[in-house]
Amino acid sequence: MSNEHAPSHGVMEGKGAYNKYAKLPAGGASLALPFLEKAVRDVELDSGNQPVVIADYGSSQGKNSMIPMQVAIRGLRRRIGPNRPISVFHIDQPTNDFATLFGVLDADPDRYVLDEPNVFPAAIGRSFYESVLPPGSVHLGWSSYAAVWLSRVPALIPGHFISFRSTGQTHAEFERQGAKDWEAFLKLRARELRAGGRLVVVLPALADDGLAGLENIMDQANEVLEEMVADHAITSEERDRMVLSAYPRRKRELLAPFARDGLFQHLTVKEVEVAELPDQAWADYERDGNKESLATKQAQFFRPIFVPTLASVLDRVRAGDAEALGTFGDQLERRLKRRLASQPTPTHSFVQTIVLTKDG
Ligand SMILES: C[S@@+](CC[C@H](N)C(=O)[O-])C[C@H]1O[C@@H](n2cnc3c(N)ncnc32)[C@H](O)[C@@H]1O
Repeated sequence: MSNEHAPSHGVMEGKGAYNKYAKLPAGGASLALPFLEKAVRDVELDSGNQPVVIADYGSSQGKNSMIPMQVAIRGLRRRIGPNRPISVFHIDQPTNDFATLFGVLDADPDRYVLDEPNVFPAAIGRSFYESVLPPGSVHLGWSSYAAVWLSRVPALIPGHFISFRSTGQTHAEFERQGAKDWEAFLKLRARELRAGGRLVVVLPALADDGLAGLENIMDQANEVLEEMVADHAITSEERDRMVLSAYPRRKRELLAPFARDGLFQHLTVKEVEVAELPDQAWADYERDGNKESLATKQAQFFRPIFVPTLASVLDRVRAGDAEALGTFGDQLERRLKRRLASQPTPTHSFVQTIVLTKDG
C-alpha cells in the first residue's frame, strides 16, 4: 500500500450528487470571496486583447465554482471592459462527473456565462499534480477544497480512515506526504501562473490545537464501518483497505515552503487566514430541534465526498459492479444518520485561505 497511487482518490459521488449536497465547501469558499475580489483587483493585466485566463483547480461538478467565477469575472470586467475574452478552465480528475459540470454551465441560474458572450469555459481531465496548462498562461488561479486530497495514500491507518485520527509513524507519513504534495502543487501552479498573477487556495484547516471539527462525524462513520463488518455487509479485509487521502493541514504547514526567505518557486504569500466555519445544519437544529433533519443533512454531507473513495476498495467495485457503490453508500448513509440522530453534535469546521502572487 505504501507506494499505491490514488488517481481517483477524492473523486466525488457522480450524477450531480456532490453538487446537491456540498453546502459545507460552498460555505468555506464564500468566506474566501473577499480574498478573491482583492486578488482580481491586484492581478497584473497587460493592455492587449489576448484572453484573460482563469484556472479552477479541482472544480468537481461545478456548482460551487459558479459564484467564485462570477465574482472573478465581474471584477475583471470592471478592469478590462466587456469585450476582452476571458477563458475559464475547470480542472479535475479524469473520472470526475464532467457531464454534470457542463449541465451546470448550460442551465444553472448562477452560471457565470449568463450575459457574458466573451467568456469561454473549458474543462481539463487531468490531475493537478501534473502540469495542466501551458507555462506562464494563467492570470488567476482558484482552488477550493481540492488540494486537501494527496497525490497518493502514504499509509493505511490502523482502526480509522482519516489522517487526523492517525498517530505516531502513520501520522508522520501523512505529514511528510502532505508537505511534499503542497510543494508539488505550488511548483506546478507557479509554472502555470503569469508574472504578477494571483493564486487563491481555499482548504479545510486544522486549528492550531490540531482539531478539524469533523472528529465526531468521522468517528461515527468509523463505527458504522465496524458495524458493517459485524453484519457482514462488508468484509474485514475490505474495511482494512479503506483510507482517505484527504489531509487537512495547519496554517504553519501551508506557510512552511516560505519559511526560509518568504519566496518559494517565485511565489510569495500575500494573505493567509484561518476562520471557523459554523455548521449551518446545527444552526437550523438549534432553531427547530429536529434531530432527524440535522442527522440527514450531516450524513448527506459525508456521503458524496467520502463514500466513493471508501467504496473504491470494495471487491465488487473493483470487479466493475456498477451498483456496488450505491448499495454501500445507501447503507452507510442510513446507519450514519441513525447514529448522528441519537447524539446530536455540531460539525463546526475550519477553513483557510492563502493568496499567492508570482514575481516577475
Ligand atoms: C470537495 S471537491 C471540491 C469541489 C469544489 N472546488 C468546491 O469547492 O466545492 C474536491 C475536488 O477535488 C478534486 N481533486 C482531488 N484530487 C485532485 C487531483 N489530484 N487533481 C485534480 N482534481 C483533484 C476531486 O476530484 C474533487 O472533484
